[in-house]
Amino acid sequence: MSLNSIPVIAIDGPSASGKGTVAQIVAEKLGYHYLDSGALYRSVALAAYEQGIDSNAEQDVAKLVPRLSIKFQHGEIYLNDADVSEKIRTEQMGQGASKVAAHPLVRLALVDLQHSFRKAPGLVADGRDMATVIFPDAKTKIFLTASAEVRAERRYKQLLNKGLEANYQAILKELQDRDARDRQRTVAPLQQAQDACLLETGQLNIEQAVNKVLEAIAANQQ
Ligand code: DC
Repeated sequence: MSLNSIPVIAIDGPSASGKGTVAQIVAEKLGYHYLDSGALYRSVALAAYEQGIDSNAEQDVAKLVPRLSIKFQHGEIYLNDADVSEKIRTEQMGQGASKVAAHPLVRLALVDLQHSFRKAPGLVADGRDMATVIFPDAKTKIFLTASAEVRAERRYKQLLNKGLEANYQAILKELQDRDARDRQRTVAPLQQAQDACLLETGQLNIEQAVNKVLEAIAANQQ
């Protein structure tokens, strides 16, 4: 099977849209590999933070990338052999990821690694630029979104359910800041690919969203 004939399902969208959960379930159902590209940017942000590198210093952060080993194993993420699955999920690393991701040189340094996830029988890739830049030939392209208020509400409830403190207004503000940075950057901004299906999940639960993605994939196979 040549590399380009391996099917890719690209699922892009803003943070807290539920795309990660939906993409993972779709990958499991299809028996496909799964790429969480946000975790790569989060790992870079964490490594820069731990090494005292300013996230605004494009050259320094980009030089760091080839020296990092980022691996996904059994659902966990390893940065230079340390399990960073929990550490990269903080809001601080989400914002840090959004900052390092705005640098063209950092994005370029992560392209080959992202392409290496394209393996038989197929790949479900989730991020911001999967359909537009990394896998423009993806067989199915989904832009999964919901209003900032719906996304903030979901995140707020998730934190409360974990017994953590949460402030809805602060969460909403953080989401809006991150959306603005991800949408307005000059390189690979968050945007719906022209040939992507828009999936608005405001009124859908996870199972319904998964079914919609599976329907779109099936429709593309006809
Ligand atoms: O999906 P996430 O919240 O884990 O992503 C964290 C940040 O990484 C997000 O705010 C922007 C950046 N990112 C990106 O620029 N391109 C991607 N393909 C994935 C994430």
